[in-house]
Amino acid sequence: MDYFFSKTLAYKNLCKHYTEIKDIPMRDMFLQDKDRFKKFSIKLGPILFDYSKNRITQKTIKLLLELADEACLKEKINGMFSGEIINTTEKRRVMHWALRSPENEQIVIDGTDWSKEIHSVLKRIERFVGDVRSGTWKGFTGKKITDVVNLGIGGSDLGPKMVVRALDFLASDDLKVHFVSNVDPAHLNKTIKHLSPETTLFIISSKSFTTQETMENAKRARTWIVEKFGDDRCVERHFVAISTNKEGVINFGIDPKNMFEFWDFVGGRYSLWSAIGTSIALSIGFDNFKELLKGAHMVDNHFKNADFKENIPVIMGLLDVWYVNFFGAKSIAILPYSQCLEEFPNHLQQLIMESNGKRITTDGREVDFHTSPVVWGRVGTDGQHSFYQLLHQGTQIIPCDFIGFVKNPYNTEDQHDIFMANFFAQTRALMQGKDEKEVLDELKKNSKDAQKINNILPHKIFPGNRPSNSILIDELNPFTLGALIALYEHRVFVQGCIWNINSFDQWGVELGKRLAKDIIDKLNKDVMCEVYDSSTNGLINYYNKTKRGER
Ligand code: F6P
Repeated sequence: MDYFFSKTLAYKNLCKHYTEIKDIPMRDMFLQDKDRFKKFSIKLGPILFDYSKNRITQKTIKLLLELADEACLKEKINGMFSGEIINTTEKRRVMHWALRSPENEQIVIDGTDWSKEIHSVLKRIERFVGDVRSGTWKGFTGKKITDVVNLGIGGSDLGPKMVVRALDFLASDDLKVHFVSNVDPAHLNKTIKHLSPETTLFIISSKSFTTQETMENAKRARTWIVEKFGDDRCVERHFVAISTNKEGVINFGIDPKNMFEFWDFVGGRYSLWSAIGTSIALSIGFDNFKELLKGAHMVDNHFKNADFKENIPVIMGLLDVWYVNFFGAKSIAILPYSQCLEEFPNHLQQLIMESNGKRITTDGREVDFHTSPVVWGRVGTDGQHSFYQLLHQGTQIIPCDFIGFVKNPYNTEDQHDIFMANFFAQTRALMQGKDEKEVLDELKKNSKDAQKINNILPHKIFPGNRPSNSILIDELNPFTLGALIALYEHRVFVQGCIWNINSFDQWGVELGKRLAKDIIDKLNKDVMCEVYDSSTNGLINYYNKTKRGER
C-alpha cells in the first residue's frame, strides 16, 4: 500500500474543510445546536468522554473517519491484536494488550499460548506479593519488609510510579513503595537515608538489564545492603529482578528464582501491566492490580470492537491529527483535576513522545508533516495559578485534556465540588472566551472613564475557541485507572497509524546514551579533551579542572 498521510485524498479534503471551519467560534456551534454535547460525547462504562468543546462539526468527524479508512486503521488494529510484527525496526510483535487478557482467553501465536505464559508469571507475582505483604518473606536478619525501592527508569519507573501514587489511598500502611530512577546519586541517597537495610527490598526493574542509570543504582544499593550484613547471601533476601534478560540478571548475582520475567513484545512505556507492575501490586495488593488489568482489558475490547464513531481512542487520536496537522498545534496539555493523578502527565510524556516523536515513516520516508505534539501538564488547580494565562490568552493553540472524577477517594465532598467547579469552569472559559462587547459592557458598569476603559479593554478580552476534551470518570479506582491509561495507549497507536510511523521503537534515545558512555572516559583525566566540538571539549575541560581545584 502506497500510503503517505499528506498525499491522501482525506488529507486534501481536510485541508479544504479546515479553511471552512477555522474561523467559526465554538460558542456559535453550541448556540446553533442544543444537542452538541449529546452528539459529541461517548460513554464507556464509568467513563464519560466529552469532545464537544472541539473545533469540529459532524463533517469534520466524517472526514477524519475517511482518513482513518484510507490509513487502513481497522486492519492495523487487527494486526496489533493478532500479534503481527508491527514493530518492524526491532522485528517485534506489540502485545502489551495480552498482559491484561483474562486467563481463559487463549492467545496462541506460533504455537505458544501466551496467555498461559503470562498468567504463570502473574501467579508467581501473586505469591511473592502475598509473602512480602504478610511478612512471610523476611529480610536477611529475619525482619519483615517495610520498604520496597523500585530501581528503574523510563517505562520501568514512570508507569508504576504514576499508578502507585494515584492509588495511594489503597496502599498498605505497613509497606512503603519508593521509586529511584535518576543516576544522580542524590536520588538513591535521599531515598535510603531514612530506610533500614534490614527491612528494605529492592526491585531492579529493567527490560534490558543494561540501562546505565538503573544498573549503577542497583550496584550501589547492593553495596549498601552487603556492607551492612557483610555476607553476600543477603542479596537473595533483599533483591528481586524484573527483566526480559535472564543472563543479565544472573550475572548481577540474582538467583533466577527471584526474577519475574516479561517479553520483548512489551515495550518499556507499555510495561506497567507486566511484571514491571510488581511494585504496584506490592503497594495496593494483588487483587487491586488485577482490577487495573481488567479496566485496561475493557478498553482493549472497546478499541477492537466499537464502531469508529463511538470509539474513544480513535476519536482522540484523530482529533490530535486534526490539531497538529491542520491547526498547527505544537503541544497538548494534560490537566488532571485529581491530585492523585499528579504523575499522569509525566507518564504520558514518555508514552506519547517516545512513541510518536519521529520523522521517518514505517516505509523509510521522511515526513513532510508534523508528528507528535509536545506533551506537558500539571494537576488542576495548581496549573490555573501557573500557566493557564497562556492557555487563555497566549498566541498558541494548545488542545487540553481535562480529566476528573465525580467522587473523590478522600471523601471530602464539599471541597471536591469546589475542585470540580474549577474543572467545568475552565473548559467553558477556554471555549467561550469573552469578546469585546462583553468586556466593554462589564467595564462600563464599573467606570465612566472612557480613556481608562479603552486602555484596559484589549487586555481583558479572551479570544476563546480553545479546544478541550473532558474525561469525567465516576470514581478513581484500579479499574478506572487501568481503563484511562489504556485509552491513551490506544490513542497513541491511532496517531502512529495515521502518520504511518512505528510507535514502538525509540532509536532517538541511542545517540545521547552512547556519547555519555564515551564521555565518561574523558572525565577525571589530566589531558585536555580535544576530540569533540569546542563547546563539549570546553565543558568537559572546565569540569575536570574545577574538580581538581584548578581555576
Ligand atoms: O529511554 C529509553 C528506554 O529504552 C525506554 O524506552 C525504557 O522505558 C527505558 O529506557 C528503560 O529501559 P529498561 O527497562 O531496559 O531499563
